[in-house]
Amino acid sequence: MKKLVILSGAGMSAESGLGTFRDQGGLWDQYKIEDVATPEAWEKDPGRVTDFYNMRRKECYAATPNQGHEEIAKLEKYYDVTVVTQNIDDLHERAGSTDVLHLHGEINKVKSAGPNAEKKYYQQNAWEVKMGEKCPEGYQLRPHVVWFGEAVPMLEKAARIIEKADLLVVVGTSLNVYPAAGLVDYVPSKADCYIIDPSEVTVPRKFDVIREKATTGLKKLSETLIRALD
Ligand code: APR
Repeated sequence: MKKLVILSGAGMSAESGLGTFRDQGGLWDQYKIEDVATPEAWEKDPGRVTDFYNMRRKECYAATPNQGHEEIAKLEKYYDVTVVTQNIDDLHERAGSTDVLHLHGEINKVKSAGPNAEKKYYQQNAWEVKMGEKCPEGYQLRPHVVWFGEAVPMLEKAARIIEKADLLVVVGTSLNVYPAAGLVDYVPSKADCYIIDPSEVTVPRKFDVIREKATTGLKKLSETLIRALD
């Protein structure tokens, strides 16, 4: 089976009702990154950061996968698919994708805000984490997300996956945030590359551009990719 890698971003889940970051009216129009998504924000006001991610978790738990997530899951019948996502929601998994790597963490997990946090994750079933809720070692629980200024532990693994791609599909990301955006540089030159986005996104090499939303764009591309195997 050919290796198909999907690199997804916030636009992937937009049609499930989850807001993107940099579109007009997006999350970074409503909040300042430095207030809610950095280690310094946590130091200064962990309650505000906790509230911000509680809202993200609440929305995520209320959302359902869209047709785009489902098309990607269906492609596993035809291709060896790995999803590398910048999204912290679990909509790819809930649609049925079995190989999903989260570059920026997962909102349905929390971890200790103390030392060794990367090694201890806890499933968070309720949407709300309260201040004062602690890990067994006595540290406040924080969301299992990668904040601006933090290392991206999954980056190397993602690069190794993209290096093996026969096809790369980039969907719903403005490719503004590094190091994630730099992953497209790892794709082999012989790979077929597609980008699905209703807006113009600058890409560093030749991509077939599908100027559509994730749902319709992925439906069309998926039909093309399945037909190509005949
Ligand atoms: N279908 C596909 N793409 C869409 C849709 C849609 N329905 N709606 C919007 N988009 C596109 C936008 O045109 C834009 O190019 O999705 C992209 C969203 O870009 P961003 O908001 O910048 O999101 P993303 O690229 O995922 O951000 C990367 O930034 O703040 C951080 O950690 C956060 O993982 C996130 C990272």
